[in-house]
Amino acid sequence: MWVADMDFVSPPAAIDALRQRVVHGIFGYAEPAPQLKERVAEHLQQRHHWVISPEWIVWLPGLVTGLNVACRSVGRPGAGILTTPPIYPPFLTAPRLAGKRLQTCPLSYCGTRWELDLDGLKRAAVDGNALFLLCNPHNPTGRVFTRKELETLADICLQSNLVICSDEIHCDLILEPGCRHVPMAALSPEVARQTITLMAPSKTFNLPGLGCAYAVIPDPRLRRRFKRAMAGIVPHVNLFGYVAAQAAYEHAIPWLEALLNYLRDNRQLVYQAVQQMKGLSMAPVEATYLAWIDARQSRFEDPADFFERNGVGLSDGVHFGAPGFLRLNFGCPRSLLTKALARMAQAVQTWAMDKDDLRDQPKPC
Ligand SMILES: Cc1ncc(COP(=O)(O)O)c(C=O)c1O
Repeated sequence: MWVADMDFVSPPAAIDALRQRVVHGIFGYAEPAPQLKERVAEHLQQRHHWVISPEWIVWLPGLVTGLNVACRSVGRPGAGILTTPPIYPPFLTAPRLAGKRLQTCPLSYCGTRWELDLDGLKRAAVDGNALFLLCNPHNPTGRVFTRKELETLADICLQSNLVICSDEIHCDLILEPGCRHVPMAALSPEVARQTITLMAPSKTFNLPGLGCAYAVIPDPRLRRRFKRAMAGIVPHVNLFGYVAAQAAYEHAIPWLEALLNYLRDNRQLVYQAVQQMKGLSMAPVEATYLAWIDARQSRFEDPADFFERNGVGLSDGVHFGAPGFLRLNFGCPRSLLTKALARMAQAVQTWAMDKDDLRDQPKPC
């Protein structure tokens, strides 16, 4: 229940397009069809009300590549790169790999909701930092930051002259009906000029193994710097990635809507089950198919190891900068999810009976 892809068959339209491309039989170097950039632009406008120009798009073989390229393209050697743990692990490693300094300002958590620590960020975004790495919707907490939160964050970054790299790979997976994804760069032309947005069809349509992603960089100078950092080392996107992306954006929106409804029910199942496991708790998930579970009250010495020994493989919060937490991927058939949750409940119950000393769960604030 760990790595962040889904156990669902990809949209039939993508599979059919791939099948036709395989039958074609010639697998030389490939350029994307000229219409693909238009398709991406249409998708962003229709789904997220973000109007972009197709020339702002830079193709990438993956978002992790994009994060690392952003860290290499912005700031002098040794400059600070700021981010907000708990966070998808490459955010924590990319700054050092680029010869920069990792600066962190953890999200705040009151037991029921994860939030940006905007006062802390104001203090942290001092001179010497060059880049802010944002993840929205947020992996692993599942938060969809509100327009107001993003506006305050953008003001902080603009005032401190920080370039923003906004990883929005999960933007199509909004589960909470009251939430909307607001692309950071859509806030205003000033914010757009300072922002590198990273996106992909990979999470949306379960195509991550095909390696097709893109950066949207409105500012020509920033785009040039980004492309220069890629030059000679970042490979082209695989032709199957382009083919599947095009078919999915064109034909698989009904598939996506059905997926979201299925994930909403899975999310509910996880939330209810976790609330009943002594020593475990979680905040509601607003987006993504990832549940971020607080196991600190359980007093398991090593929560990930505990559950793995009991037949459920989860992501260990340690890698996200948050020991004592676990990430569970609920992008799977309900039969598998039910089995995993039952194993977890059984393991916790047996352990609690042995110990019988768990404290009450934290009270909601
Ligand atoms: C926030 C975030 N960024 C990037 C990635 C990975 O993207 P890619 O496989 O395109 O490198 C993931 C995958 O889990 C993710 O959750």
